[in-house]
Amino acid sequence: MAYANQSEVFAMIVIQGPGALSGELSVQGAKNSALPLLAAAVLARGETVLHNCPRLSDVDTACRILEHLGCRCRWQEGSLVIENAATCCEVPQCLMREMRSSIVFLGAIVSRCGEARLCFPGGCELGPRPIDLHLEALSRLGVEIQEEGGCLSCAAPRGIQGSYIPLSFPSVGATENVMLAAACGRGTTVIENAAREPEICDLAAYLNRCGARIYGAGEGCVIIDGVEALYGCEHRVMPDRIAAATYLAAGAVTGGTVTLTGVDNTHLLPMLPPFEAAGCAVRQMGGAICLMAPPRLSGIRHLRTMPYPGFPTDAQPVVMAMAAVGQGTSVFVENIFQNRFRQAEELGRMGAKIKVEGRVAVVEGVEHLTGAQVQAGDLRGGAALAVAGLAAWGTTQITGERHIHRGYQDLAGSLRALGANIQEAP
Ligand code: EPZ
Repeated sequence: MAYANQSEVFAMIVIQGPGALSGELSVQGAKNSALPLLAAAVLARGETVLHNCPRLSDVDTACRILEHLGCRCRWQEGSLVIENAATCCEVPQCLMREMRSSIVFLGAIVSRCGEARLCFPGGCELGPRPIDLHLEALSRLGVEIQEEGGCLSCAAPRGIQGSYIPLSFPSVGATENVMLAAACGRGTTVIENAAREPEICDLAAYLNRCGARIYGAGEGCVIIDGVEALYGCEHRVMPDRIAAATYLAAGAVTGGTVTLTGVDNTHLLPMLPPFEAAGCAVRQMGGAICLMAPPRLSGIRHLRTMPYPGFPTDAQPVVMAMAAVGQGTSVFVENIFQNRFRQAEELGRMGAKIKVEGRVAVVEGVEHLTGAQVQAGDLRGGAALAVAGLAAWGTTQITGERHIHRGYQDLAGSLRALGANIQEAP
């Protein structure tokens, strides 16, 4: 398959600010739905077609995993087509290391092949990324797991046996792994304290369209009645709620007016309070949302990240970039990841006043930021630097753009469509 891995083409984003954004933008398909959907395609016989699948380097990596397993992937008129001929049950370390979320292939591979071999995805920029909840849940389903030298050998000699799975934390990935492992298992599986994120509902919708029997997705308890077989189908990937929050933050921080189309407004509701606290007027209508920013943002006072339907951790960095120029103090409490304030130091190079103590960050809003050379350390932190660069006076150069390409389909082009002075440079 031809991969559009732009990170080999560009290494830096250059932004001239400030400049108010305005106009309309259609939002990409959701990275965090496309990835588990691609893993789910391993379970479905025949062909799966994913419409509205975003063109991202993480999607490229997932396709490399699928092709290593024996599937064939191709883009056809903007949709991703996966022909499932998976026979291999091993994911090479290089691909596991490229993308932590590749752990979500485990449940699908062990269900399809009866065994699976892959390595620990390893820590990441956000702090340790343990998979204990995944492994504990899969072992309850009858999967025998050997860990050796950072690699996992898994086998289900008696097949996947339905079971009761109480999750001690509503882990998105662990919930997805159990759904994938149990969809074709024997008997019924009940996931207690399941993640409620919209991406869970999107995965259940695809699996049910393939013939699965999954009930309660999006609620705290998901029930999976195992079926004999699943058959590929067409599915439209849900809109990316985090990309939407990113473009709303870009409009807010520049004092602009932006309209996003192709969104699911229900998914955006948990993210709107900080925008409204900052003084933005937000109007939701059908599949669109319009944000009108005040000439100067207010601080957002207090924001804590929580599992859905709380405020999503993935939108915290871009809202911090907004708060950096908001009038007053904003307090952030990051309850999901240990190390998700990496953008604070780089925002500081642009003049932001942010004090980080463990899981708490205190932001004193400043009149304006100043363009600087900054380094993206992770996907959403990189997006936050771009948001800040749009409002900063002067030139901002963001290196480490490969992080951004993991989750944003042409971020620079999308912001340019809203009037930003932004280029990609080698
Ligand atoms: C998914 O990651 C998303 N990634 C993340 O988005 C998102 O931030 C996260 O959910 C929370 O919403 C994808 O969907 C590909 P978790 P995931 O399991 O599944 C701990 C982005 O920027 N935990 O809900 O890895 C874990 O350490 C990415 O798009 C365990 O302790 O998230 C973390 O503190 C970043 N043991 C917390 O739970 C486990 O076995 C949340 O993790 C699993 C997780």
